[in-house]
Amino acid sequence: MAGKRQVMMLTINGDDYEMLVSPRQTLLDVIRDQVGLTGTKEGCTTGSCGVCTINNDRGEAVLSCLTPALEWQGKAITTIEGLEVNGELDALQNAFLDYGAVQCGFCTPGVLMSARAVINGSGRPSEEDINDGMAGVLCRCTGHIKVKEAIRNVASYNNKT
Ligand code: FES
Ligand code: FES
Repeated sequence: MAGKRQVMMLTINGDDYEMLVSPRQTLLDVIRDQVGLTGTKEGCTTGSCGVCTINNDRGEAVLSCLTPALEWQGKAITTIEGLEVNGELDALQNAFLDYGAVQCGFCTPGVLMSARAVINGSGRPSEEDINDGMAGVLCRCTGHIKVKEAIRNVASYNNKT
């Protein structure tokens, strides 16, 4: 049985949304299909690839395909569309460009939101923090060598400030 749809409030990238959501819908379904923010990608839908990663209100990485949307009632999240603020790219987005950390781009939203969570953690992540934080998001093009160089660059800048 599908279950009855319920009214749900969700804040995405600072904007408030009210929508009817079924108990079967995941947070990923709501972000992409109801709100229309398709930057967050749909891959495996089983928690294995990480391309659906968003950040919760503590800046932590969350796999949006795994969570029933209604569990996020009243909460706030950030998706890839929310990384750029007032037309300014996030420091990580700039570093990804500088280091050539993007190829086909399919994994990039999930990789960036995972990387943002790594930086959000302490601002000065260790190599272990970076490896742990990026372990759950896969890139079929090229892997994480350039991605980690970009993250280290942002972290080293934080270390100087
Ligand atoms: S789509 Fe969520 S982990 Fe693969
Ligand atoms: S850049 Fe193509 S899957 Fe990662």
